[in-house]
Amino acid sequence: MPKTKTTFFCQNCGAQHAQWIGQCPNCKQWNTVVEEVIQKEEKRNWKTPSNTQKVVSKPRRIQEIELNTEERIITRNNELDVVLGGGLVKGSITLLGGEPGIGKSTLLLQVALQIPQKVLYVSGEESQSQIKMRAERLQNEDSNCLILTETNTQQIFRNVEEVQPDVLVIDSIQTLYTNNIEASPGSISQIKETSAELIKFAKETNTPVLLIGHINKDGNIAGPKILEHMVDVVLQFEGDRNHTYRILRSQKNRFGSTAELGIYEMLSDGLREVKNPSEILISEKDTDLSGTAIASTLEGVRPLMIEIQALVSTAVYGTPQRSTTGYNLKRLHMILAVLEKRAGFKLGAKDVFLNVTGGIYIDDPAIDLAVVAAILSSNQDIAINPDVCFAAEVGLAGEIRPVSKIDQRIVEAEKLGYKTFVTSKYNKITSKNHSIKLILVGKIEDAFATLFA
Ligand code: TYD
Ligand code: MG
Repeated sequence: MPKTKTTFFCQNCGAQHAQWIGQCPNCKQWNTVVEEVIQKEEKRNWKTPSNTQKVVSKPRRIQEIELNTEERIITRNNELDVVLGGGLVKGSITLLGGEPGIGKSTLLLQVALQIPQKVLYVSGEESQSQIKMRAERLQNEDSNCLILTETNTQQIFRNVEEVQPDVLVIDSIQTLYTNNIEASPGSISQIKETSAELIKFAKETNTPVLLIGHINKDGNIAGPKILEHMVDVVLQFEGDRNHTYRILRSQKNRFGSTAELGIYEMLSDGLREVKNPSEILISEKDTDLSGTAIASTLEGVRPLMIEIQALVSTAVYGTPQRSTTGYNLKRLHMILAVLEKRAGFKLGAKDVFLNVTGGIYIDDPAIDLAVVAAILSSNQDIAINPDVCFAAEVGLAGEIRPVSKIDQRIVEAEKLGYKTFVTSKYNKITSKNHSIKLILVGKIEDAFATLFA
C-alpha cells in the first residue's frame, strides 16, 4: 500500500496549504479551504495496480478478437439503405439533420411505414391527425407503424416498454425533455441528457433509433457538437426548397462509408427514390457550348460538382487580359504558362476570362484539369461532352497529379449521372465496379488526345 497523504486546498483559488485555515491567505476568502487526499508520489506507481482494485478489462491481441458482423434491418428504402451502408444497424443511433421543410419528417415517416418490422414513430412536432394526413398522402395502408405524440422521455420509455418496437423514430430531439433536469426543451443540457438516455436505451435493448435534428442558420445540427460525437451515424438531408430534388448524405458513419449518397425527388405523394440521376443533368443541359467543363471538387469533406467557364479571345489591346471569378488568378497564369510551354498552345496573345459558376470561390487544386479543359475548349471552339467531368491537379511540368478522396469524387460523379471521369493515372483508386468510364491520364498532352480526338 502506498502511503496516503492529505493536503489542504483553497476551493476558490486553488492555493495549497499545509494545514486548515479559516481564511485563505492567497485570495482572502473565508471558509474555502478543504482537505483532500493526495497519493504519495512514487516514481513508478502506474506500473503497480493497487491491489484493492480487481482487474476487469484486459487487453487482447487483435487477432484473438472475434469479429461479429452487425445485424442490420433493411428499411426497404433503397437510397437510405445504401447511405447507411446496407441497412440500419441494430442498437445504432442515427441523426438526420436538415433545413426546416426539406422533408425530414416525410422521409422518416415514409421509412417507418415501409419497414416490415414494428416501428414506433414518436413526434413532438405534429399531432396524430396531422401525421395521419401526411401518411394518407404517402399511401401506405398495411403497415406495422405506431404513432405516439409525446415529448417527455420517461413517458416515451414507458410506451416503448409496452410496445417493444423493433425501430424507434424520434421527431425531433429538440422537442424532447427529461424529468431528470430542469432546463427547457431544446436547451443544450436537455439535448445532451435526452440523447444520452436514448443512446443508453439503444445500446441496452439493441434497438436502432432514428433521430431528427434541427439545424441552425450555419447549417450545423442545433445543440451541442458533442451530439454528433455521441451518435453512430450523422445524415444530412439537403436540397433547395424551391426545387424538387433532395440529396441524402452521410457525414459520419461508424458502420459504412461516408462516400455514398442518396437522391430523392419530392412529389405530391412523398419522396421518390431517384435511381437514374442523370435525369437531373440532362434536364438542365440541352445545348453544347464550348468553353465549359465540369469539375469535381470538395467542399469540406463533401464532393461537389461545379461548372467552369472560360472565354478565350484574341486580345484587342496590346497586353492580353486575364481575369477570374472564383479561382486564383496566379494559378490561372501558371496554367496558361504550362499550356504554352508543355503543350504548345499559343495563348500569349489571347484574353482569357475564367468563371466558376454558382458564385463560389474554389481553392481545391483538383479543378485545374477542368480549367485547362474549359480554356482549350473555348480556344478550339469545340464543346466538351456534358457528361464528362474532371478531377486532377496540373503540375508545372505538365503532369497530371492525383487528388485527395478520389473514391468519393468518383462515386458522386457516378451517382449524379456523369458517364466519363477524367483523372490522373497516379491516383490510388480503391473502389471497384464503377459503371462510370475512367480515363486515366499522366500528362497534359494525353488529356487532350482523349478529349479532342
Ligand atoms: P417535412 O417532412 O415536414 O419537412 P421537415 O420535417 O424537414 O421540416 O416536409 C414538408 C414539405 O414537404 C412541405 O413543404 C410539403 C412537402 N411535401 C410534399 O411535397 N409531398 C408530400 O407528400 C409531403 C408529405 C410533403
Ligand atoms: Mg418535421
